[in-house]
Amino acid sequence: MQTTGAIVAEDLVKVYKGKVRAVDGVSFNVAPGEIFGFLGPNGAGKTTTVSMLSAGLRPTSGRAVVGGLEVSQHPEEVKRRIGVIFQESTADGDLTGRENLEVAAGTYGVSRSEGRSRANALIAEMHLTDAADRYSKTYSGGMRRRLELAVGLVHRPKVLFLDEPTLGLDPQGRAGFWGFVQTLRKETGMTVFVTTHYLDEADTMCDRIAIIDHGKIVAEGTPNELKDKLGGDVVTVKTAAGAPDMTEVLRPLAGVSSVQRQGDSYRIKCTSGETLVPIAVEGCYRGGAAVTGIVVKRPSLDEVFLEFTGREYREEEGPTATDRAVMMQRVRGALQGRR
Ligand SMILES: Nc1ncnc2c1ncn2[C@@H]1O[C@H](COP(=O)(O)OP(=O)(O)OP(=O)(O)O)[C@@H](O)[C@H]1O
Ligand SMILES: [Mg+2]
Repeated sequence: MQTTGAIVAEDLVKVYKGKVRAVDGVSFNVAPGEIFGFLGPNGAGKTTTVSMLSAGLRPTSGRAVVGGLEVSQHPEEVKRRIGVIFQESTADGDLTGRENLEVAAGTYGVSRSEGRSRANALIAEMHLTDAADRYSKTYSGGMRRRLELAVGLVHRPKVLFLDEPTLGLDPQGRAGFWGFVQTLRKETGMTVFVTTHYLDEADTMCDRIAIIDHGKIVAEGTPNELKDKLGGDVVTVKTAAGAPDMTEVLRPLAGVSSVQRQGDSYRIKCTSGETLVPIAVEGCYRGGAAVTGIVVKRPSLDEVFLEFTGREYREEEGPTATDRAVMMQRVRGALQGRR
C-alpha cells in the first residue's frame, strides 16, 4: 500500500449496525498540498468517509493513512494533526467567538500569546470583528459557520477535512473562506479534503475530484478530465465571409465526432475543445480560410455529476435547462440506438 500521500484510503468499508453499507470499498490517494473534492448525492457516504479518515469513526474494514499515520493505530495523534469542520455545528454557544478560538488553540497546545494572536487574525479574516466578544449562540447561521471554519484552522493543520464547509454561507462568505484556504495552502502546503454540494465551487477550487454514489467511487480526476470523459465539448469556429468550405478539413481532426456547417460557422463536437482549438485554427489557415472567432463550450460539472450518478445534484430544485437538454439528448440517443 502506498503511504506517501497526505491522505490514503484503501478499500474503506463502513457498515452501520450490520445493515447499511454506507461506504463500500473506497480507495484514493490525495497528494500533499492538494485540494481534493468529494462529491455525491445525499446519503452517498461522504460524511461517513470523512469521519473514518479523521479518526471519528472506525471503519468496518480497509485502511486509512493520514499524514503518514495509520489512523486506526494512532487516532489521537491524527486528531491533533488535522483540522476537521463537520456539517453540524460544533462551536460552543456559551463562549464568545474569541474564546472559542482561544480555547481551541489551547487544546492543541498552542501557547496563550500565540493563540491570542492567531484568534485575532482569524477573526479579522472571517469578518467577525464586530461580533468577536459576543456569545456565539447569538450569531447568525452564517456567522457561526465562519467561526467554525476559524476554529478548524486555528492550529494550522497540515491536513484539513471540510464537510460541506460553505453550506449556508452567502457569496462573500464563500469567497472569503476559499480565499483564506488558498492562502493557507500556499503558505503552509496544507492538504484539503472537502465535500460540497456546490459544483461550481468544486470546479474552481479543487485540483482533483472523486464522485461517490451508493458508497462507491464512480468517477475520479481533475475537473477537466471528468469533463473530457463526457466527450461533449462543442467548438464553434467562425471563418471570414466567403471563405472556402472547411467541413472536410475539420472533420478528420483528432477527437472530432461531428461537424455542422452553418454559413461561415462550423459547430464541431469533440472530445476536448482545448486541444482542438489550435489544430482547427491551423487547419483552416492551411485550407485558406481565416478564422475570425472561436467559442469553446465545455460541459459543466453538473453534467458530469448527472452522467455518473444519474441524478441531478439538487433534486428538490428540479432539472435546470441544461439538465433537461442533456436528458433529452440521452433519450434521443437511446431511441436512435433502438431503431
Ligand atoms: N449512524 C448511522 N447509523 C446508521 N446509518 C447511518 C448512520 N450515519 C449515516 N448512515 C447512513 O449511511 C449512508 C451514508 O450517510 P452519509 O451521512 O455518509 O451520507 P452523505 O454523503 O454525507 O450525505 P449528505 O449529502 O446528505 O450529507 C446513508 O444511507 C445514511 O442514512
Ligand atoms: Mg454528509
